[in-house]
Amino acid sequence: MSKRRGRYIVWEGSDGVGKSTQMAVAVQESRRRGIPTRTVREPGGSDIGAPIRKILLDPNGPDLHPKAETALFLGDRAQLWHHTIEPALEGGYDVHTDRNWWSTLAYQGAGGELSTDFIVTAHELFMPEGYLHPNVGLVFHLTEEERQARKSRAATDEFGKPDRIEQKKQDFFKRVEHGYEYVRDRLGGTGVHAAGEPEEVTARWWSYVFPEAT
Ligand SMILES: Nc1ncnc2c1ncn2[C@@H]1O[C@H](COP(=O)(O)OP(=O)(O)OP(=O)(O)O)[C@@H](O)[C@H]1O
Ligand SMILES: [Mg+2]
Repeated sequence: MSKRRGRYIVWEGSDGVGKSTQMAVAVQESRRRGIPTRTVREPGGSDIGAPIRKILLDPNGPDLHPKAETALFLGDRAQLWHHTIEPALEGGYDVHTDRNWWSTLAYQGAGGELSTDFIVTAHELFMPEGYLHPNVGLVFHLTEEERQARKSRAATDEFGKPDRIEQKKQDFFKRVEHGYEYVRDRLGGTGVHAAGEPEEVTARWWSYVFPEAT
């Protein structure tokens, strides 16, 4: 009998909306249920990802054109999919990812003012259907005020200060949120309101990730 193919499950949304917190809950429950489970993150999840992540996010790094950013993300993504995600799915693992290409649509597209068509076409060229259309794609959203408040309470961070993308201006983040609206309205992302206690937020996505009667 052939093995059940795993599901590709995406956790998306602006910085600080609670993606990592909620994904950790799902991963713990998934393992508790005995579901073979792997986790990845973008950028930088692939075996060539560490230097790419550093170039993309290091606040002391060069100012990058959004097209250069997109190209770097794509290199990491293609490697991550072919070397890690696809073999895991094929082997029956559910793969949970902290961000995927929807981030590029929101940050480099809406935020960086590259056209949606450019981002979509580039990803259609490089990435397979299974990556473009995840089995489950959750997009968390908060108002900008709620997000900033949560972000300012958060313990930072990988570079000892906000990363290169986090340092952008408020207008940028407003555009990013519009990008995520597009992902929810037009690309099949499932919107999840991220306000409230973590347990309340969990209750909103639970049935998408664990659809069988609980
Ligand atoms: N429902 C919640 N209510 C209040 N605080 C929360 C909630 N969920 C997460 N937090 C806190 O908000 C901060 C951001 O959460 P988290 O790191 O999960 O967000 P994220 O979307 O992964 O952010 P980033 O994009 O920066 O990785 C953390 O300090 C976390 O403990
Ligand atoms: Mg996170």
